[in-house]
Amino acid sequence: MPIHMAKAGPPFSVLDSLGETVRSELDAVQKLFDRELNSELPSVNTLCKHVSRFRGKMLRPLLVLLAGKASGKLSDAHTVLATVVEMVHMATLVHDDVLDDAELRRKGATINHLRGNEAAVLLGDYLISHSFHLCSSLDSQFASRVIGRTTNQVCEGELLQIHNRNNLDLDEETYLQIITCKTAVLCAACCLLGATFAGADETAIENLRQYGLCLGTAFQIQDDILDIVGTESTVGKTLGLDVQKGKLTLPIIHFLRTAPQEHRTLLRSLLRSHESDKVDRIRNLILPSDSVEYASGQARKLISRARAGLKVLPESPSRQILDTMAEFVVTRPM
Ligand code: IPE
Ligand code: IPE
Ligand code: MG
Ligand code: MG
Repeated sequence: MPIHMAKAGPPFSVLDSLGETVRSELDAVQKLFDRELNSELPSVNTLCKHVSRFRGKMLRPLLVLLAGKASGKLSDAHTVLATVVEMVHMATLVHDDVLDDAELRRKGATINHLRGNEAAVLLGDYLISHSFHLCSSLDSQFASRVIGRTTNQVCEGELLQIHNRNNLDLDEETYLQIITCKTAVLCAACCLLGATFAGADETAIENLRQYGLCLGTAFQIQDDILDIVGTESTVGKTLGLDVQKGKLTLPIIHFLRTAPQEHRTLLRSLLRSHESDKVDRIRNLILPSDSVEYASGQARKLISRARAGLKVLPESPSRQILDTMAEFVVTRPM
């Protein structure tokens, strides 16, 4: 199917309504995103249009804008930063879908599914390259340093994950290290940059950074839960890929540590198998146990910590929205 024929899904309504207080800034982000990626080559633009049509939740731009607004004053730099982080995020998703062989993303077909792995790898490079190009338009080098350090860690997280592929003895500590690097540090950087460029004081910056780190970690735990128990039509992306690709996530790690011995043995053999109903069988084994609930509980604990960090900020509508966003992470539709 030609890319332009693909149908974009509806927006994610909860975060959509939370973004109302920064609506004009979010619109500016979308415009800058499209302008920055624009190429003189129609073949490049076709791919970029696909990426731009299928919008996600805009969680990371929202973090930049709301952290800024909750701790000081927004400026044009925030629009640039919010665009940069969404571009970095998008680059990681385009590459991640190659690694995971995913076919569905944001309720649309993935680039690798439509155009093959080579085009997707190169488009991911194009996105990351443009994120740095755009970031370097800011007067200070501070943001480029923060983004560079963050993308270094994201790559480390992905590499650590690949290193532990099919490691059935993966422990919770290493799992947390993986998800902190691959997901949480970007959310932390969004909050840190948003606050710093709004002129916030050190305490506010550090608390917002911690808020982002805890929220990002909880977000990935919840995403990993959804990969097992979620519905593709609701979540909008291919699910079941974590077990398919040998990536152990928190419910599985907990089950392998706590379930009765015969259940553990069965799960280990299912994880090693190549049967077509592997994902369904693993889901059916895990669901009656308390392992999904354990993982949800860990995510909820992190969300409580994230929300506690917001208390140092003065009360404001933006602080309230950051608080509600944290709640959304652990309650979003399955
Ligand atoms: C997906 O992130 C990748 C993870 C870190 C789990 P999002 O769920 O924020 O993706 P979009 O931007 O809304 O599509
Ligand atoms: C998140 O991992 C990928 C990055 C943070 C780069 P996942 O593989 O779980 O993300 P989804 O589920 O495909 O969105
Ligand atoms: Mg994936
Ligand atoms: Mg996932």
